[in-house]
Amino acid sequence: MLSSSSTSERPVVVVANRLPVDQVRLADGATEWHPSPGGLVAALEPVVQASGGTWVGWPGAADVELEAFDADGMHIVPVSLSADEVADYYEGFSNGTLWPLYHDVTGEPVFERRWWDAYREVNRRFASAVAGAATEPGSVVWVQDYQLQLVPALLRERRPDLQIGFFDHIPFPGWEIYARLPWRREVVEGLLGADLVGFQRGADAANFLRAARSTSGVVTRGSVIERKDGRQLRAASFPISVDTAALDCLARRPETLARAAQLRSELGDPEVLVLGVDRLDYTKGILHRLRAYGELLDEGHLEPPGTVLVQVASPSRERVEEYQRLRDEVEATVGRINGDHSALGRPAVHYLHRTFPKEEMAALYLAADVMLVTPLRDGMNLVAKEYVACRHDERGALVLSEFAGAADELRQAFLVNPWDIDGTKAAIRRAVAVGPPESSRRMRAMRRRVIEFDVHHWANAFLGALAMVAEPQG
Ligand code: G6P
Repeated sequence: MLSSSSTSERPVVVVANRLPVDQVRLADGATEWHPSPGGLVAALEPVVQASGGTWVGWPGAADVELEAFDADGMHIVPVSLSADEVADYYEGFSNGTLWPLYHDVTGEPVFERRWWDAYREVNRRFASAVAGAATEPGSVVWVQDYQLQLVPALLRERRPDLQIGFFDHIPFPGWEIYARLPWRREVVEGLLGADLVGFQRGADAANFLRAARSTSGVVTRGSVIERKDGRQLRAASFPISVDTAALDCLARRPETLARAAQLRSELGDPEVLVLGVDRLDYTKGILHRLRAYGELLDEGHLEPPGTVLVQVASPSRERVEEYQRLRDEVEATVGRINGDHSALGRPAVHYLHRTFPKEEMAALYLAADVMLVTPLRDGMNLVAKEYVACRHDERGALVLSEFAGAADELRQAFLVNPWDIDGTKAAIRRAVAVGPPESSRRMRAMRRRVIEFDVHHWANAFLGALAMVAEPQG
């Protein structure tokens, strides 16, 4: 069993669009807290808990006014958004403009001036909330992700004493794509308010440095940026990871092992269980994956019910049109494959449109012979690392997109270009056929990577670099 390393920094104020928990209103009007979706929360929660820090964020529903409270070893500071702000700042500018633009235009970005105004306004509100929450002079504030790119500069205006870090969880696009953004200079200048701007991959940091030179006329030397006012900051890569020891420990529990065996038996004891786990998002390449998988069934290379695919697609951004369209297409495709290839009571594809607790996910990862992680573009993709962290038995095969940040580290996966359907089919066939000596060798090497470079290593590396560069001026 692995021992858990922890983040040994002083309390950090984390600022993210979402709190680690969402307030959900039930049919009878009562409210409940549910874990928030996505890799950002999964990665940061153990870090904030380990440092007894503060988390500033939105509770996930419109017009929820709440006082600060303490939960699970964290001080929680809710930031309220109105229904219009949810529509314009969150669904609009964050997820209708920036998300598709930053993911290499895998969806069509919409440039709407009203959305930009709301983005500026909400970023100001977050900056004010943080200025109040970071009570100690010289506190460390760590701003997260594309929804809050203006916060570093806005916060520095209010609190020049703070050490301000920013981490971008999603890709930062090349200049030819980024340059389309009508507010490209304002966004870069928001980020230049930080002392350290972190990215998933070296390529993202290089893209940002180029955008900073082109829009703000700053001078860069390696990762160092010299602003016109003489202040220096850095932009560099810090690949995010998972809490490997905690996942390894969860996956070794007798209940998890028993549940994994039970899952396989509920699925009819297939010879090969193939698994996909994604937020239902067009960047995740679910349709391309299903096309490849469907063709393998059509051609008889994989045969249900001996081979079964389980696709978990967790609901996401359901009021955004592009996500509604994607859901329709995914469900039509699953329906077609099942119509052609299922037997009574034995579907070829088990499609689950919901989220599961981490205990169930660990059992699914353990049960799966082949894990398909084939996004068209992804900042990191922590599902790939979670799978590896859970496979203490050194079994299982990972098919991984070259366009996920995780591909820079998990080189022993079966790497694919998800746009290449024939190539994806060939990789799935290789992963299905791989025998224990080779699959164990690959899995062992990948596990070495996620054991050494876990989420605590990521946080310590980022916060250590921030402390080096930040010069409190208070
Ligand atoms: C990605 C983003 C996060 C986001 C998560 C869930 O991981 O990088 O910032 O929180 O998706 O998306 P949602 O829109 O539901 O917060």
